[in-house]
Amino acid sequence: MPLDITAIRHDTPATLTCAYLNAGTNGPLSRHAAEAIAAANQSQLSAGRIGPGIYEKSLAISTDLRSYFARLLGADDDEIALTHHTTDGMNIAAWGQRYQPGDEIVTTSLEHPGGFMPVFAAAKRYGVTVRVVPVAVTDDGPTTAEKIIAAITPRTRLAALSHVSWKSGVVLPLAPIAEKIHGVGGLIAVDGAQSAGAILVDVKALDVDYYACPGQKWLCGPDGVGALYIRHERLADTHQTYVGFPSLRDGNAYDDNGNYLAGSTAKRYEVGTVYKPALAGMLGSLRWLEALGHAAIYAQIQAITRHCRETLAAIPGVTVYTPASQAGLTSFSIDGVDPAQAAARLGEMGVHIRSVSNPDLLRASTSFYNDEGDVEKLRRGIEEVISEQ
Ligand SMILES: Cc1ncc(COP(=O)(O)O)c(C=O)c1O
Repeated sequence: MPLDITAIRHDTPATLTCAYLNAGTNGPLSRHAAEAIAAANQSQLSAGRIGPGIYEKSLAISTDLRSYFARLLGADDDEIALTHHTTDGMNIAAWGQRYQPGDEIVTTSLEHPGGFMPVFAAAKRYGVTVRVVPVAVTDDGPTTAEKIIAAITPRTRLAALSHVSWKSGVVLPLAPIAEKIHGVGGLIAVDGAQSAGAILVDVKALDVDYYACPGQKWLCGPDGVGALYIRHERLADTHQTYVGFPSLRDGNAYDDNGNYLAGSTAKRYEVGTVYKPALAGMLGSLRWLEALGHAAIYAQIQAITRHCRETLAAIPGVTVYTPASQAGLTSFSIDGVDPAQAAARLGEMGVHIRSVSNPDLLRASTSFYNDEGDVEKLRRGIEEVISEQ
């Protein structure tokens, strides 16, 4: 059944105030998330944060949340760790390996710092070589995959790659890369910041080892909640870089000498107390999205993104760079116009996209709550920017 976009826009009220075309940075907060956060805050205020049943209730929210993320990614519940954001997950994967001097990590020139920096920081500490595969924003998925596969050697321990590039928007075919890297005994960690909630993700079919995702972008959740998939086979041999109470098998599973028993699930990578209303908010959003149907959401994102791409490509003076094998991002430029200035000017007109640098481009995000009216506002805004030159 097609989605009821009018109802969805009502459930993401920010989309009623502007052309909201920047899920790639932050999606609109869903009403379901906001209401769950407000209810949890109110409960903390009036009933307190301790007392009979309160701890159990918050554990149940976390357990439910792991299940929702697991279904979103095609994982088992015990393969999901709750994190604060994508970057958390990429750090857990990058720091969690048993590197030997001379080992290599493969990544690309189009990664976001959230995936790129953990790799370099870990590499510096452990004497590992990072091979940065040069990728152009116009390279399609298979071309990018071929370049990455060619860079994998018998010394490659880890490939850290975005499923969807934040600069080009292209969807990377992960399975052939996973096959190659597993063949040399290495692992693959995926930055899912621009894919989770935007396209179908099936971590088992992709055969990846780690998959990190945020709640605040395509899933319309609050800031500060994300998830990391860690496949069963990697739970035993991925070092815990940070540890704490939730990482333990149970609250007494440690001694005065620092010996401890870690939990057997991915929860072993969770540490310390988190902001519980945000967990409730994330759960509210994921419940809503699952009820709408993820497949219908992905189909709508594909349709509106195709429309956006065609509309942009038809504007004289606009060049679209994103290859057609894209998720919800479209990167483009306007002849003779600085992308940062154009994004700022469009923002003044109520059209919210962003610019990226190196290469300097504009980037529009189209999601399931966007309609053709939003794309039309973008088109008119660009024409206005061009006419002001
Ligand atoms: C590809 C990619 N990775 C990582 C991040 C950082 O995300 P987070 O703040 O969830 O760590 C972003 C954010 O824009 C991104 O686009």
